[in-house]
Amino acid sequence: MSQDIFVPDIGDFKEVEVIDVLVKPGDRVEVDTALITIETEKATMDVPCSAAGVIKTLSVKKGDKVSKGNLILQLDVTAAATPAPSQAPSAVPVQKSVSQTTAPTVSVSTTPAVAPVAMQPVSVATLPSINEAGFARAHASPSVRRFARELGVDLSRVTGSGVKGRITPEDVKAWVKQVLASGNTGAALPKVPEVDFAKFGSVEVKPLGRIQKISGARLHASWVNVPHVWQMDEADITDLEAMRKQLKSEAEARKVKLTPLAFVMLAAVKALKEYPVFNASLDASGQNLVFKQYINIGFAADTPNGLVVPVIRNADQKSIFAIASELATLSEKAREGKLGAADMQGGCFTISSLGGIGGTSFTPIINAPEVAILGVSKSSMKPVYNASTHGFDARLMLPFTLAYDHRVIDGALGARFTTYLAKQLANVTGLLSMA
Ligand code: COA
Repeated sequence: MSQDIFVPDIGDFKEVEVIDVLVKPGDRVEVDTALITIETEKATMDVPCSAAGVIKTLSVKKGDKVSKGNLILQLDVTAAATPAPSQAPSAVPVQKSVSQTTAPTVSVSTTPAVAPVAMQPVSVATLPSINEAGFARAHASPSVRRFARELGVDLSRVTGSGVKGRITPEDVKAWVKQVLASGNTGAALPKVPEVDFAKFGSVEVKPLGRIQKISGARLHASWVNVPHVWQMDEADITDLEAMRKQLKSEAEARKVKLTPLAFVMLAAVKALKEYPVFNASLDASGQNLVFKQYINIGFAADTPNGLVVPVIRNADQKSIFAIASELATLSEKAREGKLGAADMQGGCFTISSLGGIGGTSFTPIINAPEVAILGVSKSSMKPVYNASTHGFDARLMLPFTLAYDHRVIDGALGARFTTYLAKQLANVTGLLSMA
């Protein structure tokens, strides 16, 4: 015997878009099994089934517009009494409702959603704990929320690949796989306390920008995965600065601006050649080092939209002017938001320069899976002891910090690298002779 299943009363909404079809012909469904997810301007809703049986035909597809009374599917209800054990279970297990209600389950994306009935999380021991506020704000349908609850997945950590960033069941599964495969479940991470700031005065909530979200996740991954060590040093760039001034007119003729960063990049190239392990990466297993036979150097660029890292490819094959020119072109592209994915890929080592802004030192976070990053601060004149004259000379000193991955690089090697780098910067003639 067949039974038609229609779109139930969905309030004042008409012509509502179907954003997900959760079942297919041949699926066995129960009363309250979510069939489709629809989205109004304000909410996403799962439309549940009002009978049990096996789906014969589906009358809606993703992207359709539906209203109350539209046919969703035809059900063979005679099959309800004879379970078919050979049938594959639905991809998204749905919890049976005690109340047998057939009203759509609503999730409003702008306000915290009604928390679904908590089920026993399967992997609670191995997945990071759920941030309830973030979970409530996540852009996901009720069925995806239930699915996430079943698995113990914190939806606030999952990036949605659906329309307008909506989280799909596939996103939840992919996230679980990725977390379990990485072995970094974060289960031991203590939670930062949640504070209702509005209790203490008026507040304004602004979402993070797209770039901030992407770079934030990558920085966090590096922070929790990579044991960082920071080695500080200073380079005497008095002669380098004199040379930079000397080259100013030539640079202007070539229409490039020669900043200290281009020299630092050349010195980094030399140091990477001398110590190739700084140009390597651990492979995914963490058991092997991948030595790259090319030297591509990324540099952190501050843009109105956030931090990006364009990459100068084959920096070891470029002159100081070519490097300066690429620095300028890529920085401009970055600030205008015009960098393509290829401009930011393939980096081996990163330099983050805050020298144009100020500060005496800082501790950068490694751009993993790279194994080291160089943070450059603002140069300043300092008295430096001269053993020959037993006096102090006024020298222009450039402070820098090398952060390195201690799984790959030991402290002695880190200090050798920074010492070598400082020597290259102090010897500008030697530095330029290689380029
Ligand atoms: N010491 C002293 N002065 C320095 C310096 C240093 N280490 N580095 C640069 N300067 C000077 C430059 O010579 C220039 O001076 P001028 O205009 O008188 O010639 C001025 O500071 C500005 O330089 P800038 O335009 O910043 O060029 P740059 O080549 O040094 O840097 C970028 C280019 C893209 C890296 C830089 O603009 C930027 O975005 N820096 C921020 C990176 C960042 O946010 N890092 C943090 C990541 S956590």
